[in-house]
Amino acid sequence: MKLCFASNNAHKLEEVRALLGAAFELLTLADIGCLTDIPEPFETIHENSTEKARFVWEKFGIDCFADDSGLEVRALDGAPGVYSARYAGPQRDSNDNIDLLLKNLSGFTDHHARFITVITLVIKGAYHQFEGEVNGKIIFEKRGSHGFGYDPVFIPDGYDKTFAEMNIEEKSKLSHRAIALGKLNAFLKRM
Ligand code: IMP
Repeated sequence: MKLCFASNNAHKLEEVRALLGAAFELLTLADIGCLTDIPEPFETIHENSTEKARFVWEKFGIDCFADDSGLEVRALDGAPGVYSARYAGPQRDSNDNIDLLLKNLSGFTDHHARFITVITLVIKGAYHQFEGEVNGKIIFEKRGSHGFGYDPVFIPDGYDKTFAEMNIEEKSKLSHRAIALGKLNAFLKRM
């Protein structure tokens, strides 16, 4: 079965391939000839996830799924949330985003944060959503070189390593994306 993953993020693609295995022929946006940046115009992760999948389905007519995700920090009222990728500006630089996060969080004793993912699947024109979340805390030094985004400063509950100190197999056992992808996988197997 051919399924497009509507993302240009190479790290996410690697995580998705590791989780979905060989059961599907996973197509990238480049594979289907989609070279534009898919808009993320909304103020919620759910709506942006829907929009990315809708864009691919309506323009290319290919069964697909999109993921929209973000980091929600409790002491910052859920920021950066839907703005996670561009928290420090349109350059979408992970180091800048982390630096701003640590600056804004300094002075708070509550360092709780969670990653959330919403996957939207469009299959034969029908929409389905799957969610995943992982709770943890933000630390004030960047540790590790794997992963992407806020991984170097996020330690999931029950662990003492950041996501960036975990290899892809470890992160893929517990991440927000892994949980949502597990639900997607189970749904696709029942079809
Ligand atoms: P997107 O809009 O789903 O691509 O993700 C928004 C942003 O959330 C990313 O650019 C990252 O900054 C952050 N993010 C999402 N998932 C992860 C993750 O697994 N690790 C670290 N940062 C993430």
